Amino acid sequence: MSEPASPPHPPVPAPERVADVLRNTAERLRAAGVTDPQVDAELLLAHVLESSRGGVQAAAIRGDRLPEAASVALAPLVDRRCAREPLQHLTGRAPFRSLELAVGPGVFVPRPETEMVAQLAIDALRAVASDAPVAVDLGTGSGAIALAMATEVPHARVYAAENSVDAFIWTKQNHALVGAENLTLAFIDLADAFPELDGTVSVVASNPPYVPDDAIPRDPEVRLYDPPAALYGGADGLDAVRRLSRVGLRLAHPGGTIVIEHGEWQGEAIRQILTADGWLLASTHPDLTTRDRATTAVRP
Ligand SMILES: C[S@@+](CC[C@H](N)C(=O)[O-])C[C@H]1O[C@@H](n2cnc3c(N)ncnc32)[C@H](O)[C@@H]1O
Repeated sequence: MSEPASPPHPPVPAPERVADVLRNTAERLRAAGVTDPQVDAELLLAHVLESSRGGVQAAAIRGDRLPEAASVALAPLVDRRCAREPLQHLTGRAPFRSLELAVGPGVFVPRPETEMVAQLAIDALRAVASDAPVAVDLGTGSGAIALAMATEVPHARVYAAENSVDAFIWTKQNHALVGAENLTLAFIDLADAFPELDGTVSVVASNPPYVPDDAIPRDPEVRLYDPPAALYGGADGLDAVRRLSRVGLRLAHPGGTIVIEHGEWQGEAIRQILTADGWLLASTHPDLTTRDRATTAVRP
């Protein structure tokens, strides 16, 4: 008598197509309230595929299938993004101008609007007629503004201060990653920063905490994941700005520039603070979406 035939193995399902995974991921992210679900879906796939957004789009058009390992890696990341963990915490990276900065818990994720604030500082630094102009970034976080100034104005000497232990870990990591030798870091309160530079600084730049204490941000990515010390600036949000104005007067030489990022409704109040302290030519600058975003002034 012959052996009974063993039951056939169930068919192994073919890996999903990248295009289908992309569509399903974007739908889940949209349902979770993520602002740019398609972009985030593409960037999460790019991360697990060690590719780029363009590479993912091309794979979807070609009809490629997602390798099993990438599919396994993607699932928990999509769950976490649906729970509104910032995309940059999941990929560990945040683009800033020409840089890719390392970010994660404990440090403020650099924002696109700060790229324009850095541009104001870089323009002011490039305009200085000196072989080695000096700039400072007060409250440097990931090091975004300081590293942009140091790499884009390589003949400048840049100094950056941060007083959060958790953030400073990322500042040092990004300094090592980017490797700007013309940047000096200090773990110090901005009010006490760099007395050795008093009267010599051409550009004082800062993106300080400027959210009023009772204006709790709506987006969970900000409210739950950006460090409170990076966000809140007292009852009117301007406590750090008042300190910056005074520190800037100490650090800057006559003709030096201060560049301060702020919320879209704070331009007038900040011009008043700077002008009352003696700064000249206080003016507020809109970002690419026409929102007031930064105020500059010149040391008399
Ligand atoms: C809005 S975040 C900006 C970070 C980074 N400059 C950027 O633009 O992405 C403000 C940063 O200032 C730091 N900070 C707040 N108060 C400070 C103080 N008194 N002295 C030094 N740093 C301070 C916070 O820890 C945080 O890293």
